[in-house]
Amino acid sequence: MSSRQDEPVPQEPHKEAGSPACPAQWVGAAGTAQDPQSRSRHVTEVVSTGPVRHPRTLPATCLGPARLPQPVGAPGGSQLCSLPDPRCPQVQRVLQPLSLSLQQLSRVQHHMLAAMEAGLRLRKGAHTVPMLPTYVRSTPDGTERGSFLVLELRERDLRVLRAELGGSQEAQLKDRIFAVPQDLREGKGEKLFDFMAKSLCQFLDDLHIPATSHQLGFCFPFTCITTGLETSKLQSWSKGYSCSGVVGRDVGQLLQAAIQRQASHDINVMVVVNDTVATMMGCRLGTKPCEVGLIVGAGTNSCFMEEARYVESLDDNEGRMCVNTEWGTFGDTGAMADILTTYDEHVDAGSLNKGKHRFEKLIGSLYLGEIARLLLVQLAQDKALHAGGTTPQLRTQVGAVPPQCLLQKLGLQPSDPDCFTVQQVCLAVVTRAACLCATSLAAMLTHMRKNRELPQLDVCVGPAAFFRPRFRQTLLEMTKKLAPECTATLVSAVDDSRAQGVAVVAAVALRLEAQRREVDQLLQPLRLAPRARQQVQALLQCEMERGLRQETHAQASTRMLPTYVRATPDGSERGDFLALDLGGTNFRVLLVKLRSREAGGICMVSEIYSIPPEVAQGPGSQLFDHIVECIVDFQTKQGLWGRTLPLGFTFSFPCQQKSLDQGILLNWTKGFTASGCEGKDVVELLREAVRRKNQFDLDVVAIVNDTVGTMMSCGYDDPNCEVGLIVGTGTNACYMEELRNVEAVPGAEGRMCINMEWGAFGDNGCLDEFFTHFDAQVDRVSLNPGKQRFEKLISGMYLGEIVRMVLVELVEKELLFQGRPCPALQTPGIFPTKFLSTIESDGLALRQASAVLQNLGLAASVEDALLVRKVCQVVSLRAGQLCGAALAAVAEKIRDNRGLAQLAVTVGVDGTLYKLHPHFSQHVQQTVKELAPRCTVTFLQSEDGSGKGAALVAAVACRIGAHVCHLPGH
Ligand code: BG6
Ligand code: GLC
Repeated sequence: MSSRQDEPVPQEPHKEAGSPACPAQWVGAAGTAQDPQSRSRHVTEVVSTGPVRHPRTLPATCLGPARLPQPVGAPGGSQLCSLPDPRCPQVQRVLQPLSLSLQQLSRVQHHMLAAMEAGLRLRKGAHTVPMLPTYVRSTPDGTERGSFLVLELRERDLRVLRAELGGSQEAQLKDRIFAVPQDLREGKGEKLFDFMAKSLCQFLDDLHIPATSHQLGFCFPFTCITTGLETSKLQSWSKGYSCSGVVGRDVGQLLQAAIQRQASHDINVMVVVNDTVATMMGCRLGTKPCEVGLIVGAGTNSCFMEEARYVESLDDNEGRMCVNTEWGTFGDTGAMADILTTYDEHVDAGSLNKGKHRFEKLIGSLYLGEIARLLLVQLAQDKALHAGGTTPQLRTQVGAVPPQCLLQKLGLQPSDPDCFTVQQVCLAVVTRAACLCATSLAAMLTHMRKNRELPQLDVCVGPAAFFRPRFRQTLLEMTKKLAPECTATLVSAVDDSRAQGVAVVAAVALRLEAQRREVDQLLQPLRLAPRARQQVQALLQCEMERGLRQETHAQASTRMLPTYVRATPDGSERGDFLALDLGGTNFRVLLVKLRSREAGGICMVSEIYSIPPEVAQGPGSQLFDHIVECIVDFQTKQGLWGRTLPLGFTFSFPCQQKSLDQGILLNWTKGFTASGCEGKDVVELLREAVRRKNQFDLDVVAIVNDTVGTMMSCGYDDPNCEVGLIVGTGTNACYMEELRNVEAVPGAEGRMCINMEWGAFGDNGCLDEFFTHFDAQVDRVSLNPGKQRFEKLISGMYLGEIVRMVLVELVEKELLFQGRPCPALQTPGIFPTKFLSTIESDGLALRQASAVLQNLGLAASVEDALLVRKVCQVVSLRAGQLCGAALAAVAEKIRDNRGLAQLAVTVGVDGTLYKLHPHFSQHVQQTVKELAPRCTVTFLQSEDGSGKGAALVAAVACRIGAHVCHLPGH
């Protein structure tokens, strides 16, 4: 092996040093056992005599176990960060500035929290930490597989590995370490990257890995601006690197180019990650992934899974993304001025990056030794060390906690009390570090808890360091004290956690990409291209024409039923009316009092009654008897007994009308199948039931469809309302058509409201190309297969079922719930449409989705919740677009009828889906705008239900003294 400096020099994989020679638990608490880089660089530079021992041990001569001081930072004390020996006031005085009270710590915590939140904003304030998005969107779920190359650039060397992820978290790794000589670390960037590429190729050659293509994860532990998993631009070097020509450039690309220059292996740099991210991704507790990565080594940093919607720089706000806090920079703008000591100022002044990474300089092992040295100098000057005086070594800025008996090494002759003092100094420095680290961890956990809107947060933290027990204990205890609603479980990192984490990031990315492709393919048929929307509009226009014409009526799927309502209300309607409203979610009986506006306008009292499914689907006589029972109950409650009020009947099913008070039920729709009703006049069926009851009289003067009732009800407030739209259990629309076009009704003057019954659009096959196999399944198991095909794409009775069918298939394809069988999903109706509204609502969406799924007994990961939401979105978007396309056809027809260049029309709307779904109405409105640009369509939601409209229709009929259809003023 050549030993030229630019040649990679493989080294033995690093072995963990033996257990500490003595039980000192404080020195280098922040160092990592497996990571030589995290030993302070000063250690190896300065302690040149004698064998380099483990950095975290002191010889037994310095520390007798019996003399170990008690743990510092004992929670409960007012000064929490140091506990100077009460026997030695001088030591106490010198260490005093390092003592921080709980108030001071919680102040730091609050500043840190504010700095983190500011860092997530686009317009960052003065005190911020960078909070860099990493584009890692998912934690591992244990199914990650594959073989990955990993390249870890570290302080003094680089490590190349091949990680085999076999579905369990136990990755098998083969690794090799190549020292990176100083001139490469400080020379030309291109040389450094060539060196990395050569090392990679050499590693592959030595392992005789066959010449296939390799996916590589690159762990690059420097501050980078990341814009994609494989795109990271270096912002600034640190850790002793200062290569030219790299800052501002994409390090993934630089590595890829260097690999290509080697021209010997096919290696694809697929992810570039920060070490914090690798740490988080490489650790898990059983099946629970870590959602926080915490590094306390030479420096300190962290990352965590953030709700994407809080990262303002992201274009999409779906799910979560790992954010690299770069919290080491906290305090660079003065936020910690009140806790910094003169020792900290000295350490900063003597550092390579003065004024920068101030927080890191209080915590990272690169700096702790130097703080300890300065304290010892002070103690020596104060004659608090019995060894007395200082030595040139002690006065030299060397930093780091020495690996051997510190005082001896520094040329002092220590007494036992001196050793005890040194121990206290180090303990105070490290304890302060642990407490400060706790402030930032507590801030981060608080932020996560708030953003996830949880009363309690319970997360696993993947630490890169093998924290010394005392550091760990202080960190955990203080974190709990500062953020009592949060529980952080520190997962013990294993040797290869970080490298494994890099491979896991790559594997997760591959898994997500493959899943995304499969999911997109599965959902594709449910997406409507603009052309498809236009086609639907055109098809409906054509079906409308056919439905209106006598000779084509029978073949048309939209029945275009005349309603004998010829005009919208004009406000002169008066009187007391009964109204029934049957066919939506609720059956209502109403008393509607129509007064002049001055006398209070319309006043309504109503009662909701249930129609049990066995009644809706039993014998027709039973259904109408039940309706009559409800009327009797209502009249009794309202003291109407003995009065025979005129009644308007909103009956939300297709009826052939020959007059206003007669409606032949063509067929049941939605959840009704009551026998013996189809083909009969429902007004007559109602009258018969009243006669059976033989207790009272009913004066039914008008039967109206709910669309008509809604149009009339909204028309009372807006005379421009000439369309009625329902999107609830079912869907349908009515509109004012020119009588000359309604061939079934004689006459050519004026207009008539047409109940389109567009729910049946497509029943003649004209929409077949738009039906997916999910729709076919929903249709097949419905009460009316082959019927109401358009309604089954849009309305509340069916959307949940479509989603359920898609979810079942996603589970079958192992794209959801990791393919775990979900018997609950096999149950028809288990996923009602109201779940779509909940899951798609903004804000708490993911939590809502998880809660909904959990209630169904489905344990959903964040990805599962996201996928379920995506399915809901695709299904409701299609429904909204179809409804919009149909409405555009109606608006265009009205405009065309009237020969207008521009039409202004109001649509009166009702129905739970339209009203309660968070986005449905926008989808409808946007599509109408897109497809009917020459129509200005205003949407007016009916707040009163269509019972009011039925009463208005009845009022007109009464006023003109017969059950005929001419409304006043028209
Ligand atoms: C109600 C109307 O407000 O909406 C009913 O009064 C109509 O007539 C119903 O049928 C439609 O919505 P849903 O969601 O109840 O089917
Ligand atoms: C169904 C009915 C129709 C009604 C609509 C909305 O489509 O057939 O008459 O208007 O549901 O309730």
